[in-house]
Amino acid sequence: VLPRRPVSPRARFDLLGGVPDLDSAPTAALGRALRRSVATDRHGALLDYGDARGEPHLRAALASWLARTRGLAADSAAVHTVRGAQNGLYLAGRALLAPGDRVAIEVYAHPSPSALFRLLQLDLVPVPVDGDGMDVAALDALDADRRVRAVYLTPHHQLPTTSTLSPARRTRLLELARRRRWLILEDDYDHEFQYAGKPVLPLAHQDRHGVVVYFGTLSKVLAPGLRTAFIVAPPPVIDRIAAYRRFVDVQGDQILERAICDLLEDGEIDRHIRRMVRIYRARCAALCEALRGELPMLRFTPPAGGMAVWAEAPGIDVDAWAARALELGVSFQPASLFACGDVPLDALRIGFAACDEAELREAVRRMARALPRARRQSG
Ligand SMILES: Cc1ncc(COP(=O)(O)O)c(C=O)c1O
Repeated sequence: VLPRRPVSPRARFDLLGGVPDLDSAPTAALGRALRRSVATDRHGALLDYGDARGEPHLRAALASWLARTRGLAADSAAVHTVRGAQNGLYLAGRALLAPGDRVAIEVYAHPSPSALFRLLQLDLVPVPVDGDGMDVAALDALDADRRVRAVYLTPHHQLPTTSTLSPARRTRLLELARRRRWLILEDDYDHEFQYAGKPVLPLAHQDRHGVVVYFGTLSKVLAPGLRTAFIVAPPPVIDRIAAYRRFVDVQGDQILERAICDLLEDGEIDRHIRRMVRIYRARCAALCEALRGELPMLRFTPPAGGMAVWAEAPGIDVDAWAARALELGVSFQPASLFACGDVPLDALRIGFAACDEAELREAVRRMARALPRARRQSG
């Protein structure tokens, strides 16, 4: 049912931080659920116009899944399904913000949300990040100068640097948001993948004042091609987003949403996550070991979770290295891809989810072969 990964002769080893292992996607179960979704559709309800907030059974199933797995005390009135987190950010950006609004963003950020915010003519102000996630004290100081309307961040595993927002910063951020009337846009793209230490619950779990608009996605859990994600926010916020969606997209894919609801309710998605966590944990360890062996000049901390390693490569022209590695069939992400402000560019993000351990070892050997040329180019 799901398309297989296209084999590109230029990039045989996709070390891209956001791509899950699509060969492991539960395609048979999804196929059965899709057939059931169509076969059991009573009086064509799923074929009809429906609720702009999403298919009601899926919204209810998501509400109880999110309560159980992420501590989000939401009922289905607080849940809105969308066609990917990117689509959710677009709808929320249109419904809740206006062109010219100032949005704080982590100084390294995923290029899709940052490009989207520029498209929406939002005024992006970069905030430094470190080993404890977004620097909330710097954000506070920045707001004194240039009034911020919203804060977009990836607190679970900062994208791309993988750090987790510290408990003290979480508390301070929520308190500041309440006092300054900031809207917090929490992008929790890889919540499920935690390999070391205790799971960290979302900022939305701690939100007592309705300041957080929470974005989750099934793109990393199942597959990005399904374009299924969700927003959790206070019901009046959800209704504003739905009112906007009604005019630009009408509703989601109800047949697919009902099938995904089935997979959630019968435990298929939880089983798949448990399996992928085991697989990704082993891949993460294999990548770290290969990097230590083949590229000892890299500085990195093994991530506590997620799908990628962030490494500093002091003095190396990482853009040249990435271009050379691509010629050898390996694609990784240079820091320049994520820069939203003035930041060091001698760093890289190396994804481990889409390749098995042997592939990761071969990919790292090729990266090492690509390095000397990149070094000379920088000198
Ligand atoms: C931080 C972040 N936000 C949003 C997205 C978009 O996800 P989706 O496929 O759900 O639109 C991605 C995808 O890589 C991401 O990494």
